[in-house]
Amino acid sequence: MRRITAAETWPLRQSVLRPGRPLAAAQFPGDDLSSTNHFSAYQNDELVGIASLFLAEMPEHPGVTAWQLRGMATAPEVRGAGFGRALVAACVAFAFASGKKLIWCNARLSALGFYRKLGWEILGEEFDVPDVGPHFHMWRRLP
Ligand SMILES: CC(C)(COP(=O)(O)OP(=O)(O)OC[C@H]1O[C@@H](n2cnc3c(N)ncnc32)[C@H](O)[C@@H]1OP(=O)(O)O)[C@@H](O)C(=O)NCCC(=O)NCCS
Repeated sequence: MRRITAAETWPLRQSVLRPGRPLAAAQFPGDDLSSTNHFSAYQNDELVGIASLFLAEMPEHPGVTAWQLRGMATAPEVRGAGFGRALVAACVAFAFASGKKLIWCNARLSALGFYRKLGWEILGEEFDVPDVGPHFHMWRRLP
C-alpha cells in the first residue's frame, strides 16, 4: 500500500464515488490536513484503489479518539480481486499502530456486505447522505 496525496485520490474518487459530478465534489474537507492519510493500491503502475483516514470522533462514541475511513473505492475492473480488503487492512493496521481506539465509516447500503465480511459492525440507524443515498455507521474496535 503506497501513501499518496489527496489530489492523487480525486480522479478515482470522482469516477467511483461521485460519478457525473465535478472534481470538486470528490474533494473532502480536511483532505490536506497533515493528520489525514491517503492510501492507494496499484496494479501494473495503474492506480486501482484508494482509501483515506481522517481523524474524527464517531458520533456514537463521542470523546473516543478515532479514525474515520472515507473515500473507499476500487476501480470497477479490479473488483473482487482483493484490493478493497488490502486497503482496509492497511488502514486498520495504521489506525492500530497510531494508538487510537476505533475506526469507523459511513457505509453505503451497497457496501455493507463488504465491511461485514471484514469484521466491521453496524452501529445506529440508517441515515441519508444527500446526493449519495442511504448509509449506516459501521465500525471496528481496534484490537
Ligand atoms: C466496496 C468496494 C470498495 C469493494 O472493493 P473490492 O476491491 O471489490 O473488494 P475485495 O475484492 O477486496 O473484496 C473483499 C471481500 O468482500 C466481498 N465484497 C466486495 N464487495 C462487496 C459488496 N458490495 N457486498 C458484499 N460483499 C462484497 C468480496 O466478494 C470479497 O469476498 P471474499 O474475500 O469472500 O472473496 C468496491 O466494490 C467499490 O469501490 N464499490 C463502489 C464504491 C463504494 O461503495 N465504496 C464504499 C463506500 S462506503
